[in-house]
Parts: sequence; structure tokens; C-alpha cells
Amino acid sequence: MSHDRYILSIESSCDETACALVTRDGRVLVNAIASQIDLHARYGGVVPEEASRRHIEACLPMVQETLARTKNGWADIEAIAVTRGPGLIGCLLVGVETAKALAWGYGKPLIGVHHLQGHLHAPFLCPDPRADGTIPTHLLIENGSERPALPPCAAALKPPADVVIAQPDFPHVGLIVSGGHTSLVAVESPGRCKTLASTRDDAAGEAYDKVARLLGIGFPGGPIIDKRATLGRVERFRFTPPMKRRDERDFSFSGLKSQVSRKVEELRSAGELDEATINDLCAGFQATVIESLLEKSIEAARDYDVRDLLIVGGVAANRGLRAAAARMAPNLRIWFPNFSLCTDNAAMIGGLAWHVAPLSPREAIELDAKANLPIEFQNVKDVS
Ligand code: KG4
Ligand code: ZN
Repeated sequence: MSHDRYILSIESSCDETACALVTRDGRVLVNAIASQIDLHARYGGVVPEEASRRHIEACLPMVQETLARTKNGWADIEAIAVTRGPGLIGCLLVGVETAKALAWGYGKPLIGVHHLQGHLHAPFLCPDPRADGTIPTHLLIENGSERPALPPCAAALKPPADVVIAQPDFPHVGLIVSGGHTSLVAVESPGRCKTLASTRDDAAGEAYDKVARLLGIGFPGGPIIDKRATLGRVERFRFTPPMKRRDERDFSFSGLKSQVSRKVEELRSAGELDEATINDLCAGFQATVIESLLEKSIEAARDYDVRDLLIVGGVAANRGLRAAAARMAPNLRIWFPNFSLCTDNAAMIGGLAWHVAPLSPREAIELDAKANLPIEFQNVKDVS
């Protein structure tokens, strides 16, 4: 039990109901996540209406369980934060309306947080300790070597000697790569971002999910393809990388998905789509996605003249992507959040919320969820 004060945060923008407690300096006490994978797996994708209903059931009990981890309940809560967008509107509304009611009922300030700006904050957090007391670490790749890292707020927790105590500098470049988004942004300070490039069609995670669906290997596609790619031969199927020219900064993944789809049809009608072939297709597809993501991100970090590149969002959990980043060894520091903070979570929302101006009581009552909220949206504090 701790005597710290926390922001209690709620995230419900897609298919994870999440609630967290985070201190001002970025230590995560609770990072509770109720996944809906079982619900959506049979459809091979998220069904928005079903997702919203599940959020309604999960949200309040999860807040209660999270709060039970504090010493003094609501008295330890400085403010309530919630994801205000972007995301699925029905899903966002559940979190936003729950947070509004709690803030009003318990007399707490309300803070609306941008989901993607939250993803970019993950490497600045010290993840919640495991049951055995050890702290999960982030991954820092520097000069081709991989090192576990934690931000300065973790120093007091005395992590093992091999853990680097460091965090990215500002400004830096962030690659946000998830199921709904793939973009490169310049980050001036927490919550102040400018888009440098984005996908012209599908997000990378969406391409993973669609390719997994057409191969019939399950949902969500990312972790499944990541695993099968390690068993496959990468040289068997060569796909053309999308938007390869140096002056083409944007991403595109729907053409790649179509290439895979054509190949799958061809193999299926020839009766050759066996398990080993599926693994080879996964390896070829994943290698092409990774090449596109890393080349464009490294180029953007060089053009923007920063030494730190952050790779965040669900696809940042990809082990092939992490290994390829270490092999490329550019003259940059590349940061990947701990796996628990890659896919959607509320800790990233609560951590960033400490840098965001609370809404006035009137604004809090009127807060609305926004399905499309540009990453340039700013409500950060001038001094944070
Ligand atoms: O950030 P996230 O939880 O939700 C969105 O905001 O979209 O990302 C979910 C996406 C899914 O498309 C999932 O397939 C992908 O992240 N993903 C992965 C991996 N783990 C999750 N993609 C590639 N490799 C992984 N290991
Ligand atoms: Zn996300």
C-alpha cells in the first residue's frame, strides 16, 4: 500500500476496457485491462456495437477494483482522466460518460486525453511491478545492442544493475503503429505533436488482422503472424514493399494485403496452402511490413534531426520488428515500450494526463467523445 496520489484513468476506445492508477512522476500502481478478444475472435475483427456493450458491463466494476488498491480510496485520487478520442465512437462514449459521472459525483477534476498522444507516453512510465516484485522494463536499442530501460522515476525502486535509467529526449520522432493508426509524428513535448507521415489506406495492425483472416489463422492477427513468421522461410515469398521511393514518406498497406491475398488464392486452388506454406507467407508478409516501417521511421528521425525514435502502439509488440531494429543499428536510440504498455491500456492515458490541463467544471459536463481527433489537438499545460 502506498501513500502516493494518483490519477485514475479510463480507456475504452476500441476493444479493451482499461483502468489505471499512475503517480505524477510516472509510476504505475495498477494497469488493469479487460480484453474482449474472445468476443471478437469469431468475427475476425472488432464489432463496434458488441464492444460498446462489453465496455458498459466491465467499466464500473473495474474502476472499483482499481480503487481498492489505494490506501484511502477516492481521497488518494487527484483527478480522473479519460480517452476522449480518436476511436470507435460508441466505445469512447462509455468511458467518457463514466468518467464524467465519477468526476461530478466525487468532486474530482476531469482530464480528457488523446489516445495516440497517450501511446507516445508509454516509454516515460515505470510499469506496475509483477506479483514477485520485479518491474517489467522497456527496450532501448542503441548502436545495435538491446538493453532493458526504465525512466528516472523507477530509480527509487532499485531495479537490477543492467537496467538503464533513461528516457527519450524531446523533441523526438514517434512511430504510432496500431490497429487503427500508422503514422510518424514529431513530438515537441508531452502531448504536442505534428504529423510527418501517415498511412494512405490500411493501418499496419489492420493489415496484420486482415491477412490473418484470409489465412484463417485467428484474431488478432499481429501476435499470431509474428509467431508463425519465426517458423517460416522469409525468402520463399517476396512481396513488393509499398511506397518504396525515398520521396514517398507515407505508408500504405492495402496493396501488400492484396498481394498476399492473390498468392493465397493461387496456393489454395493449387491445394498447396499447408501449414508450412502459411508460415512462409507470414514470414514474407511480416518482413515486408517491418522493412517499410523501419526504413521510413529511421529516415524521418534523421530528417527531423533527433536522436530518439519511439515505436509505440499494438504493433510495437512485434518481436520481428524489435529484432530488425536492433540489426539495422542506425545512429539513433530506438525505444519500444514494455509489452504491457504497447497494446491499449489506461496507464498511458493517466501518465500523460498529468501534463494535460484539467477541464473546467462546465467543460467537464460538456466533454464529448470524438471518433476523429487529430494528433495536433492540444490541451497540454504550458509548464508540466
Ligand atoms: O494499440 P492497439 O491495442 O489498438 C489500437 O489502438 O488499434 O493495437 C492493436 C493492433 C491489432 O491490429 C493487433 O493485431 C496488433 O496491434 N498487434 C500486433 C502484435 N500484437 C498486437 N501486431 C504485430 N505484432 C504483434 N506482436
Ligand atoms: Zn491504441
